[in-house]
Amino acid sequence: MAKMRSLCFLAVVLAGSRCCGVFDAVPCCSDGFSPTALGGCLGEEQDAQCPGNVAAQKRIDCHPQPGASREACEARGCTWCAPDVPNAPWCFFPENSPYGYARSGGPEQTDKGWRVTLNKRQALSLFGNDISPIVFEVEFQTKDRLRFKLYDPNAQRFEVPLKIDGPGVTAEEANYEVEFSDDSTHLKIKRKSTGTVLWDSPLVDLFFSNQFLEITTAVPSTSVYGFGEHEHPTFKHNMDFVTYGMYARDQAPTAFANLYGVHPFYMCVEPDANAHGVLLLNSNAQDVTLSPNPSLTFRTIGGILDFYLFMGPTPENVVQQYTEAIGRPHMPAYWALGFQLSRWGYNSLDVLKETVDRMKHYDIPYDVQHYDIDYMERRLDFTYDKVNFAGLPEFIKEMKKNGKHNILILDPFIAKDEEPGTYRPYELGQEMGVWVNNSDGVTPAVGQAWPPGDCVFPDYSNPRTVEWWTQLCLEFKDVLDYDGIWIDMNEPSNFMRGQIPGCADTEINNPPYTPSISDRSLSEKTLCPDSKTYLGDHYNTHSLFGWAQTEPTFNAVKQATGKRPYVLSRSTFVGSGKHTAHWLGDNFSQWKDLRRSVIGIMEFNLFGIPFIGADICGFNYNTTYELCLRWMQLGSFYPFSRNHNSEGNMEQDPAVFGDEFAKISRATLRIRYSLLPYLYTLFYESHVYGGTVVRSLMHEFTSDPETHGIDTAFLWGSAFMIAPVLEEGARTVDVYFPDAQWFDYYTGLKVPSSWKKSHVTVSAPLNKIPLYIRGGNILPQQAPATTTTESRLNPFELLIALDEQGEASGSLFWDDGDSIDTIENENYFLAKYTFSKGQLKTEIVKDGYRGADTLKYNKITILGLKLRPQAVSLNGKSIRGDAVTYEMSGKLVLRISAPLTKELNIKFY
Ligand code: NOJ
Repeated sequence: MAKMRSLCFLAVVLAGSRCCGVFDAVPCCSDGFSPTALGGCLGEEQDAQCPGNVAAQKRIDCHPQPGASREACEARGCTWCAPDVPNAPWCFFPENSPYGYARSGGPEQTDKGWRVTLNKRQALSLFGNDISPIVFEVEFQTKDRLRFKLYDPNAQRFEVPLKIDGPGVTAEEANYEVEFSDDSTHLKIKRKSTGTVLWDSPLVDLFFSNQFLEITTAVPSTSVYGFGEHEHPTFKHNMDFVTYGMYARDQAPTAFANLYGVHPFYMCVEPDANAHGVLLLNSNAQDVTLSPNPSLTFRTIGGILDFYLFMGPTPENVVQQYTEAIGRPHMPAYWALGFQLSRWGYNSLDVLKETVDRMKHYDIPYDVQHYDIDYMERRLDFTYDKVNFAGLPEFIKEMKKNGKHNILILDPFIAKDEEPGTYRPYELGQEMGVWVNNSDGVTPAVGQAWPPGDCVFPDYSNPRTVEWWTQLCLEFKDVLDYDGIWIDMNEPSNFMRGQIPGCADTEINNPPYTPSISDRSLSEKTLCPDSKTYLGDHYNTHSLFGWAQTEPTFNAVKQATGKRPYVLSRSTFVGSGKHTAHWLGDNFSQWKDLRRSVIGIMEFNLFGIPFIGADICGFNYNTTYELCLRWMQLGSFYPFSRNHNSEGNMEQDPAVFGDEFAKISRATLRIRYSLLPYLYTLFYESHVYGGTVVRSLMHEFTSDPETHGIDTAFLWGSAFMIAPVLEEGARTVDVYFPDAQWFDYYTGLKVPSSWKKSHVTVSAPLNKIPLYIRGGNILPQQAPATTTTESRLNPFELLIALDEQGEASGSLFWDDGDSIDTIENENYFLAKYTFSKGQLKTEIVKDGYRGADTLKYNKITILGLKLRPQAVSLNGKSIRGDAVTYEMSGKLVLRISAPLTKELNIKFY
């Protein structure tokens, strides 16, 4: 019986049963012993002294799978001893561990680095089929990116087909240093400028067998962020021996569970506030344990250990370097930044129309309508329900006429039991041979999902499947005139454990070690690992399924619409941001889900998928008035802002709760809409330079350790802080104000200097979400409207928030909002604004979009002026006094009329 401090569903605890599952929140205790709050087992005696001299916080689990016992532990040459540190493993590798590898010989030079051979130290094996020798190879790809990998020199193993290459730099040019310790027992990577050790792996803790690869590294601090996809309780990780599994799964967000996508990427802030990031490019089922040493233990069950280190040194640099390697985030269409509405369970066009009408009645900003599987005929892809949704094609056209955009859901399973001759998607696919196959590599894998009967699964890694899918998406455009596609269930989800008739009991389906994933099963809710895809065994490619579907869908939408593509994918992998938006999945209408969504959106910005949001008001369960209202307020500031609901739940669109709710939602969304030029510019910067759109306070104020643990507020770019209400009944929020000049968004008033670097309780009545602007920034704005189609024609405004030196800067990116490759084709407008010494200057960096010629600025607001100016001039001409309003707080509003595409020079005397 496992005695390790693994983590269990509270339900199990409440039910009073023992739990040794993957998600135990309490220790698993032997029969007759009960867990204590501190993580021990009452009645169980601690060994007076643990042999082996390994301090509890340094332990590495020698029995990571369930079912540990003293006997099993000692049989594998490990030490069994009760720890005095919460969650520490009971079975751990002793100081003189009989495992691991040793270096053999000196380094051999390669094109871009060097490699050394490592041999297994002893014959003992943890999970069998050990590989020896292995090679450790470093590639100095760029001065800020190091690749280091461990692989089998004698056999080609699976590698993720994502090519990350670099020109190569010399060891001298690199900002990092890779070396073995003097005694050759540790592999170390240092930051040259500070000497900080970023990576320190004892070779004795290295495992490389056919189905079990493990490496441990010390990390320089406990400020560790990332790893996905999970619902993390905090943004900065708890490192008390917490284990996270990664394996794509149709799984509603539950703490510690492996969810829809896989992102083995973390960022660590070093003690001196430099930051670095590390990617393990591996798609096999895997887990990572975060230990208090502090250290990380990576375990994967296939492929190779292929690491990439990104040197930062700022968190933003880390993400820029990361997306430089894996692919920059795509540039979304402008309309896609508008508010989006969705519901699984309109069930008829009439109900949908009522919803649209009441949104209109309250004039709530709203750009995008989603169509979930209830629009389909019997949930069959590429059909629509001609009874309940009769008139859907016309309705979509009407929506388009009203400036709205329409997104259709498509699932990755295709019904195979329709009457012959009636369901082309299946028949064409069958003819073209596009399905994932059984282990024989010939017969299609057959499972069950939404559509009636059985279904098959397109293998998107096969070019023939891409051809088939593209053709169907193109044809369907003639039926329903969509603007984008929502690809759901692409983990891939299958409502069975493996396909029919179940998975054979083989090592590939039931490996000797199954990482810490739900059900400890590779086939639950999906296909058998021994299924065959074009890229290889599903065992290796499972978590790449959604990723492989995304680019072809992006290209198909591009071809079908002739516009900038919109794709929303549930399953994502490293590099998915290049082609898709993402939402945090089937969350619950609960306050904790509201709160944790902030963590999720910040994490996906680290993963290079900045176009991210959560289902506003919650997906599962009925929402409540207050929760939904607070969620509309927070969701108005998700980069991807969509209210979505599950089948059978009460309606929760912002117009359904009556006047007051609608009024508040409208007001908050109008703030979003007025700031869309700023948000769009952030997306432009993220697309071109690869950074984040949403940021944690730590990201911007890294040297302030107080920010490291803050995950209740976030920033848009560097300038705009959102501090949502996250608790039921709360009418105040605790806001931490890092060291900067902050302004209250609503009043324009300076936040008192005594608030700096402190937590302050601010007022947040039901109709308000606290928002702050950071001095030093210029935010482009535009008067809001009901859709972006309309707001895009409105006059622009500049909101200038001065820092303590009276300076500020910012920029505006503008194009037609939905053409393909406007940046590459230089069909855009880009202005940079600087305010210094009482003068605003505009530099027009690019004037390539003629559609901007008719647009105007009509308002400039300055916050934080120390003195009332005597006079103001615009491009050399003085401005009449009645166009200027000044408030004693230092806020000045200037009404002007000036063309957007001409330089704006405003002087204050
Ligand atoms: C699961 C998705 O996560 C959810 O958003 C959707 O509503 C249902 N599938 C039905 O399509």
